[in-house]
Amino acid sequence: MSRVSLRKILQILIGISFVAMVVWVWQGSSHKPADFVTEFQSAYDVEAKENGTTKEFTLVARESELEITENQSTKIWSYNGSVPGPELRIIKGDTLKVTFRNNLSQPTTIHWHGVRVPNAMDGVPGVTQDPILPGEEFVYEFTPKDAGTFWYHPHVRGSEQVERGLYGTLIVEDPDDPVYAVDQILVIDDWRLLDDGTIDPRFNTRHDLMHDGRWGSTITVNGKQGYAMQVRPGERLRLRLLNTSNGRIYKLGFGGLKANVIAVDGMKVGETFSAESFELAPGNRLDVDIVIPDSNTEKNFRITDTFTRKSVNLVNLSVKGNSVSGATFAVPVADHMPVWETAIQAPITQEYALNARRGGTYGIEWTINGKAYPETDPITLKAGEFNKLRFTNESARLHPMHLHGQFFKVVARNGKKVNEPYWRDTVLIHAKETVDIVLVPLDKGQWAMHCHILEHAEAGMMTVVNVQ
Ligand code: C2O
Ligand code: CU
Ligand code: CU
Repeated sequence: MSRVSLRKILQILIGISFVAMVVWVWQGSSHKPADFVTEFQSAYDVEAKENGTTKEFTLVARESELEITENQSTKIWSYNGSVPGPELRIIKGDTLKVTFRNNLSQPTTIHWHGVRVPNAMDGVPGVTQDPILPGEEFVYEFTPKDAGTFWYHPHVRGSEQVERGLYGTLIVEDPDDPVYAVDQILVIDDWRLLDDGTIDPRFNTRHDLMHDGRWGSTITVNGKQGYAMQVRPGERLRLRLLNTSNGRIYKLGFGGLKANVIAVDGMKVGETFSAESFELAPGNRLDVDIVIPDSNTEKNFRITDTFTRKSVNLVNLSVKGNSVSGATFAVPVADHMPVWETAIQAPITQEYALNARRGGTYGIEWTINGKAYPETDPITLKAGEFNKLRFTNESARLHPMHLHGQFFKVVARNGKKVNEPYWRDTVLIHAKETVDIVLVPLDKGQWAMHCHILEHAEAGMMTVVNVQ
């Protein structure tokens, strides 16, 4: 073959691949939202699958006491006298029935954070129910659609009631999940105490409002400072970490242990990743899978917080006893996690500008599109349709934005594509950052959406998403 014809063939080949590339790019960008809907609906159950069993619990919100700092008893508010409140553990398909009694001096409600509940069970006063007055009862009853790590807390004066100790966990077990030798909830909270050990009664201060909410300097896990756990060499753990703080963010260190995230905000991930890379904002949950190294030497590990410059010790894990091994099952991950590669090009359904201004009850208001709740404008989304929401943080503070009743996926930060292989119900938005989320809302009703820095929410950063 002559040199000339070889060059010709080469040119033709380049030409063909160029055309193929153009067609490929073009097809990619024409990926229609309809495809997203199909992908979404195969991602998780649309309807609850009831198994006919009802699990009943009673919760009473009341004043009680807790030893937060050694030898000092602090007056707190709690569910059934403990912090966190009772761990409600049910199996996917069970119906949860909670008879709740308000023995506080204030009205309250219970919100089931992250749970896809019928709208009337969502616990938002003025949106889904009336506040439950002191001395009154209310029955919450629903069948969670998803298995996972969830939590409950009041939705009235949250910045005070949650800070005083009102929160608890709801674990919905997936019968298909492997059984871990240790399945432990670790609820992380911070408290702002006065020198005598009492809770600082100054809520929604100007300082807290201007910053990232109320950050306390006493940090507890399951109500204790320096929470201790004993495990055995070779043991396989499922730790369910939850941040119930008003405003504090945690970035966890595991002191040399490999901590693989298997669920975010309750929902299984498409692929695991290191828990050390995740910023755990108020409301967020992380389920992590850890295998304790199998060696004969006794050793201690620490779970720490490294979000601020001052590293804090959260959990002391001491390894003792005979080794146990054999838990070699594969990590449980989601069967189907849509990638939504081209969602970055999809049109934006609604933009939200987040900012602050002077005024309001506390002297400062946190606004969404220039308005503070209850003046914010609700939006209406059609159930079963693909939607993209954009949050633009015009302020210099943090905003973990939380949407009730649905899960969403983050597809871009500052206009740049990101692929988080998991769903969320709360996303941390940094100063001046823009975050795009996509979702296909399924459950009809009026769903609150707000910043989970509870002082920001209290000062107006809340709105309603109406799904019809
Ligand atoms: Cu934990 Cu309205 O939220
Ligand atoms: Cu919620
Ligand atoms: Cu905020």
